[in-house]
Amino acid sequence: MNIQPLMLKVDLSDRSYPIFIGENLFTQDLLRRYIRGKQVLIVSNPTVASFYLDAAKSACLDLQCDIVLVPEGEEYKTLATVSEIFDTLVEHKHRRSTTLIALGGGVIGDMTGFAAACYQRGADFIQIPTSLLAQVDAAIGGKTAVNHPKAKNMIGTFYQPRCVITDINTLKTLPDRELRAGIAEIVKAALIWDADFFEWLEKNIMKMLARDSRSLVYAIERSCAIKIKIITMDEKEANIRALLNLGHTFAHAIECELGYGIWLHGEAVAVGIVLAADLSYRLNWFEKDSLLRVKNLLTMAELPIRLPQSSSVPKLLDYMSTDKKRDESGLRFVLLKGIGNAILATDIDMNLVQEILVNHVGEDGD
Ligand code: NAD
Ligand code: GLY
Repeated sequence: MNIQPLMLKVDLSDRSYPIFIGENLFTQDLLRRYIRGKQVLIVSNPTVASFYLDAAKSACLDLQCDIVLVPEGEEYKTLATVSEIFDTLVEHKHRRSTTLIALGGGVIGDMTGFAAACYQRGADFIQIPTSLLAQVDAAIGGKTAVNHPKAKNMIGTFYQPRCVITDINTLKTLPDRELRAGIAEIVKAALIWDADFFEWLEKNIMKMLARDSRSLVYAIERSCAIKIKIITMDEKEANIRALLNLGHTFAHAIECELGYGIWLHGEAVAVGIVLAADLSYRLNWFEKDSLLRVKNLLTMAELPIRLPQSSSVPKLLDYMSTDKKRDESGLRFVLLKGIGNAILATDIDMNLVQEILVNHVGEDGD
């Protein structure tokens, strides 16, 4: 079956760019069209490179094409790893007109974007996301970052790519657990903005888990469209973009408390979504039935809906207090007024948050 390639546009005046979604996009001259200079640096990791580096390199045969393979995993999303990217750029005398190509999941994309933003005060940058999570979320919108040991994504900048090339054939080699982690961010997008899409997910989740191409393309396109709508209204997260952080204040605390890389980001997001939905329910903003639908959908996707058994609630609360989503008025939560209707809320009773965390530690006690 051949999927017709499609193109979505992120409209951000002089920082506008296209997102291409389709099959076999590496074999076309697409990548080459968005490279302006004579030099490229492809950033990837050994696993992704073993599958897709040759295809990416083949689009750059007439260019100086250097490669840097960084160690795999969230625990390497650090300034030290970005420094390795700078070392390669400097050693190989890359000029400001160079293009950095991120070939991989969200970790590679976030680090490569950050390196591109900093190298000679801004080099071109192209995203080739190969994980579902990166295709529906991380590769779009220009958030780039590395982690601080005590705070996720704490060091970074906004820097938009020149294009995003999403080849869904890359999902064929993605491990099941990673596919499910990507589904968590898709559920997040639907919950924030689009009740019909949420209903579609309830009906089609099994097809997605079976990697049905049409269902995956539909879900990627719809999630990207939601993200595009939001970021074009608020590129730098002055207000509405913060909705995209549904579940993330909790998720980032889980990732920090467990240690980066123990749970996948998407798994932590799944639990974060449940905690945000339960908090919304306990505030009488969200129906019990909607809360059950959220839990059911995530369970069908084989994602966790409870905190790790080893969780320390005081530590989670401490990590939450250093989250980026804290401002002068305190922690800002993304909560739900219904499926497809997220809102920003401050002045939330932290005793209630603590109670909800305690209730969700470990195996199901509901
Ligand atoms: P990841 O980058 O660690 O990739 C997941 C794993 O899958 C890795 O081991 C990778 O090597 C492997 N992999 C990737 N593509 C593959 C393929 N096609 N075949 C086989 N293996 C493949 O994790 P992720 O889930 O892609 O991204 C998570 C990261 O994204 C987190 O650091 C998170 O903070 C970040 N993120 C950023 C944004 C943003 O807006 N910038 C949004 C969401 C998440
Ligand atoms: N993933 C949240 C954002 O891009 O704003």
